[in-house]
Amino acid sequence: MQTYRNFIDGAWTDAASGRTLDVLNPATLEVIARVPDSGPEDVDRAVRAARRAFDAGDWPQTSARERGRILFRLSEYLGKNAARFAEIETLNNGKPLAEAREDLSDAAFCFEYYGGLATKVRGDVLPVPGNVMSLALREPVGVAGQIIPWNYPLMMAAQKLAPAIAAGCTSVLKPAEQTPISVLELAGAFEEAGLPPGVVNIVNGAGETAGAAIVVHPEVDKIAFTGSCEVGKIIMREASATLKRVSLELGGKSPNIFFADAEFEAAIEGALFGVFLNQGEICSAGSRVLVQRSIYSRLLDAVVEKAKKIKVGPGLSPETKMGPLVSQEQYDKVLSYLEVGKKEARLVLGGGRPKHLPKEAEKGFFVEPTIFCDVDNSARIAREEIFGPVMAVIPFDDEEDACRIANDTPFGLAAAVWTRDIFKALRAVKRLRAGVVWVNHMQPAPVEAPWGGYKQSGFGRELGPHGLDEYLEVKQVYINLNDRPIGWYR
Ligand code: NAI
Ligand code: MG
Repeated sequence: MQTYRNFIDGAWTDAASGRTLDVLNPATLEVIARVPDSGPEDVDRAVRAARRAFDAGDWPQTSARERGRILFRLSEYLGKNAARFAEIETLNNGKPLAEAREDLSDAAFCFEYYGGLATKVRGDVLPVPGNVMSLALREPVGVAGQIIPWNYPLMMAAQKLAPAIAAGCTSVLKPAEQTPISVLELAGAFEEAGLPPGVVNIVNGAGETAGAAIVVHPEVDKIAFTGSCEVGKIIMREASATLKRVSLELGGKSPNIFFADAEFEAAIEGALFGVFLNQGEICSAGSRVLVQRSIYSRLLDAVVEKAKKIKVGPGLSPETKMGPLVSQEQYDKVLSYLEVGKKEARLVLGGGRPKHLPKEAEKGFFVEPTIFCDVDNSARIAREEIFGPVMAVIPFDDEEDACRIANDTPFGLAAAVWTRDIFKALRAVKRLRAGVVWVNHMQPAPVEAPWGGYKQSGFGRELGPHGLDEYLEVKQVYINLNDRPIGWYR
């Protein structure tokens, strides 16, 4: 059990109130850490440190190359300590260790990728009339308030911090109160990596207090948020008072579409992987599985057979394929949807708590992989984000029908199409209203490519070069090249 503090202006500090929050291992409900329960006063200190670092001190003079090198050092640090960090992710989030290892490799690469991009920021020269030179410079947006969720704790932190550092911004990051440990451990390496004090500040606490204080703080220029639609709406509203730039990566109800000509074995894997990875706590979960009628029963049976073999248990056990949900709140939410689903559709697998759990995990937040079939797209389990291991299987007739059902949702984060016909796939790609569309796969999110939603899944893009743009402003510079005075007032 470790007690952590906030990381503000390069130093470790307690919350002004002295209050703390308990951090749990969701597999055992053991308290594994304590973190400050920060309020507006703590946020204000962090924002002022970030402001100072942005406006004065060494950071504004740091070259892009040096910022890139800092990011490379952070990447190397994570690479060298990957085993320790993966274990922390599993202990704190619950996910299987093998999945936590993948996250670590992604997070390390995210720092490396933006380290490389730091030196590639370019502006434009524009052809304006007259004896004039017109430039568009790209400059850091300023102090970024970054609020992240608990499903991919370190990956989410990397995705926010790396482009901000590359762009020359400074940050106040608030981890999710459920999963703060990995990013606090990473903060221990900031100084050695060469980050000046105040450039990255980590403030812990609850969303309604610490998170809200970041959103309304007048000295914060931009908010980057990943989490629920509900809080996304609050943030957009609250940030409007000071007209902050806002980027929102919210939830979804993503369709995973299987045409009759899909490669059958891959389809089975794809349906399972799409929604049972990370216990289904994925913003892009393929929670609506759309299957063409001619293969509907055959694919459903095969998916159910294979899903029965998914081993649920503590993430640290090597045979575990699915860990516990992250918190009591999430566990209660998912269980309540299981009851909703039982009234709306036909339950073919799971539907509750696993019967056999190891002794030490008897209290953990475990839920069975659950499959509902014959779901109508108007059902709540097809419309609302559950954020757990719950699949809703929906039949469709043809391409037209598939795209119509797929798009009939307020969300638009992601979609996947499985077929051996490339023309059919590309027709669907064009019609699907989603920020990410996979063909014959689901869930890969390469660090080099943009990620983000259409519709109520949010706006702005993370990852890839687009992710860096979110931290850059454009400054138009107009240079009069005539050495004579301007004419009109003479
Ligand atoms: P949440 O949206 O409440 O929390 C995400 C982050 O926002 C946390 O750091 C939290 O402290 C902060 N936050 C909460 N209220 C805030 C406020 N008023 N102002 C500023 N920051 C605030 O998500 P929660 O409650 O943990 O999960 C609820 C649902 O949200 C999940 O069941 C899931 O449907 C969705 N979700 C989506 C995620 C995604 O990746 N898009 C990630 C996590 C949750
Ligand atoms: Mg919440």
